[in-house]
This record gives sequence, C-alpha cells and structure tokens, in this order.
Amino acid sequence: MDETKVKSLIDRVIADRGGSFVVALAYVGDRLGLFRAMHGTGPLTSEALARKAGLNERYVREWLKGMVAAEYLEYDPGADAYSMTEEQGSVLADEASKTYLGGVFQLPMASFQHMPRFLEVFRDGGGLSYAELGDEIVEAHDRSHRSPFEHSLVQDWLPQVDGLEAKLHAGAEILDVGCGLGRSSLVMARAYPRSRVHGLDADPQAIRGARASAEEAGVDNLEYLNLPIGDLPPDAAYDFIFAFDCIHDMADPLGALKAIRGGLEPDGVFVWSELNASNDPLENRNPVGRMISAISPFHCLTVSLAYGGMGLGNMLGESGVRELAIQAEFSQCEKLPIKNALQQFFALRP
Ligand SMILES: C[S@@+](CC[C@H](N)C(=O)[O-])C[C@H]1O[C@@H](n2cnc3c(N)ncnc32)[C@H](O)[C@@H]1O
Repeated sequence: MDETKVKSLIDRVIADRGGSFVVALAYVGDRLGLFRAMHGTGPLTSEALARKAGLNERYVREWLKGMVAAEYLEYDPGADAYSMTEEQGSVLADEASKTYLGGVFQLPMASFQHMPRFLEVFRDGGGLSYAELGDEIVEAHDRSHRSPFEHSLVQDWLPQVDGLEAKLHAGAEILDVGCGLGRSSLVMARAYPRSRVHGLDADPQAIRGARASAEEAGVDNLEYLNLPIGDLPPDAAYDFIFAFDCIHDMADPLGALKAIRGGLEPDGVFVWSELNASNDPLENRNPVGRMISAISPFHCLTVSLAYGGMGLGNMLGESGVRELAIQAEFSQCEKLPIKNALQQFFALRP
C-alpha cells in the first residue's frame, strides 16, 4: 500500500466532510439573512449581528466562527468583532453582483432533505419527480444561474452565435425550453424588445413563478407555455430555440431534440448548453467535474428516471451532445467559443 496515496485520500475526505458542513452553515446564513445583514456594515459583534438579524446570539456566534474558519468572513480578536470584506460581500451577499454565488448552497441542501427517498430509489429504481423534490429546487436552480443569465447571456454568450444578435434586435420568435423560473426568458425579452420570447417548462410550479416575475417586470413581449417540449404543436416555427442546462434532465432527451428541430424555421438556430463535464469519469477529476458528477444522481438522473425516462445523467459531454444531435437529425452541430466554467454551448441547425 502506498502511504502517500492513503494520506492524500484522507486529506481529501476530511476536506470534503468539512466542506459539506460549511455548505450547510452557509445555507443557514443565506436563508436566515446573516450574509445580507453583514453586507456593507462595518465590524459587528455577535450580539449586534444577532440583534440585527433577529436570531439567537449563541447560534450566531458559532455560525460566525465557522464562517471565519471557512474564510467566508473576517474576525478582529481585539474588538471581538466580525466583518465581511467587499470581495466576500460580492460573492456571498450581493444578489445583483456578477460574482454572486450565495444561492448555490440551496441545491445541495434542498436535495439532501430527501435522502430517505434517495436511498429507496437507489435500491429499487425509479426516481424523485420535480413535484417530490419540492419548490425549493426550482428556486435553487434559478438562484444558481442568476448571475450568468443577468451578466453574461446577452453581454457575452449570444453575441458569439453567428448572425443571432442582429436578428434578435430586428425582431424574432424565440423559444426558451426548460426555462424554469424564466430568468433567461426575461433577460432576453428585456434586451430584445422587438422579439417575442416564449418560455416553456413542463413544471407547473416553475411556470407559475415565471409568470409572476414577468408580470412584476411589466414586459409585454414575453409569455409562458406550461407543457413538456415533446408536446410542442407541430406548426410551431421559431427563429431561435434555447435550452439551457435542461436537455439531460428530460425523460426523453432525444424526443425533445426532435421536437426542437421540428419547431425551428428552416434557417433557425438551436442554442443548447450542457454542463462542462465529460462522459469519461477520469476527465472529471477537477473541481467542476467532481461537483457536476456528484450532483447527477441526486438531481439530473433521478428527475428523468422518475418519469420512466432514459436517465441520461448530466455527464454527456461534447461527445454525447454530438451523438444526440446526429440521432435527432440536425444537419449541423457547432461547439461555440463561449468560455464558461460550468457550461459548454452548441449551435445546431435543422
Ligand atoms: C436544471 S433546470 C434548468 C432551468 C433553467 N433553464 C436554468 O438554466 O436555470 C431544468 C428544467 O427543465 C425542465 N424540464 C424537464 N423536462 C422537461 C420537458 N420534457 N419539457 C420542458 N421542460 C422540462 C424542468 O422542469 C426544469 O425547470
């Protein structure tokens, strides 16, 4: 036995175990408004923070110490006071910031609360449906993707698809498949007022939330369809169809891709994003790859299997995308030069 390898695995397990509790502690801070309460204020004692957030001081003090150890917050021993730097605030507290990640703790925590059911399906097969996973998962996806949709989609991603921006400014029919709470649909509707955006999602809970946000935003070139993509009417004809991080979750991804191809104008374009993982597990031995791979059974795989689906999982990678594009009879599938840590992007033509 190689003792160095044992030592390095032990270090990894300890770091992962610590990380799992840091995630839970950060989730508490996010849900109970502790990060927000610290943002933009000077140093605070645990008593002052507990008062400000309306929480129990003893728990707040322990939370603060855990967050300092995790390097999410700072501590001044002389004043016995805790603070949040500008950088920590931009990542953990400021929801509108480009670097905001404070919502990402929700997906693991909202998933793990179903552990007894996960153990059952691991044993017996089947899966946990969106309805069973509950409302918080919908919000968790939305908050995880808020920053890239608000700061990169229109500014950086779409300009990298040949000919797309000019047509969107001139006025085009857009379908945003698997839109969840509709953040990407709303961003596109605002950026391209002459275009008409149709967000589509099979989950009634997601569409209810998307419609409420659209109404609040007061946009009139945006509407939502609550149906599975496979039920897209045969006479649908969109100039652009988008599917962000959703095809692999579907019960029938191939059927979905065929419906998308059928729903495009002859010169239409389908922009498809998939997670930045490989179908070779050894290539996923990096921070992003291991995160994506570990999420798959708890979310992407189980939601597909819950509907009797093919259970693609989220590690199809570029080769899986290209294979499905051929099976769905797209004539072209081009990998886009968009640089993003979590997702890779493809443009497909019918
Ligand atoms: C991981 S979420 C992504 C949501 C959003 N696109 C984003 O990037 O934040 C996947 C979405 O696909 C939707 N979905 C799954 N199967 C679907 C289907 N057959 N037709 C339409 N939407 C579907 C789910 O309801 C869910 O909202």
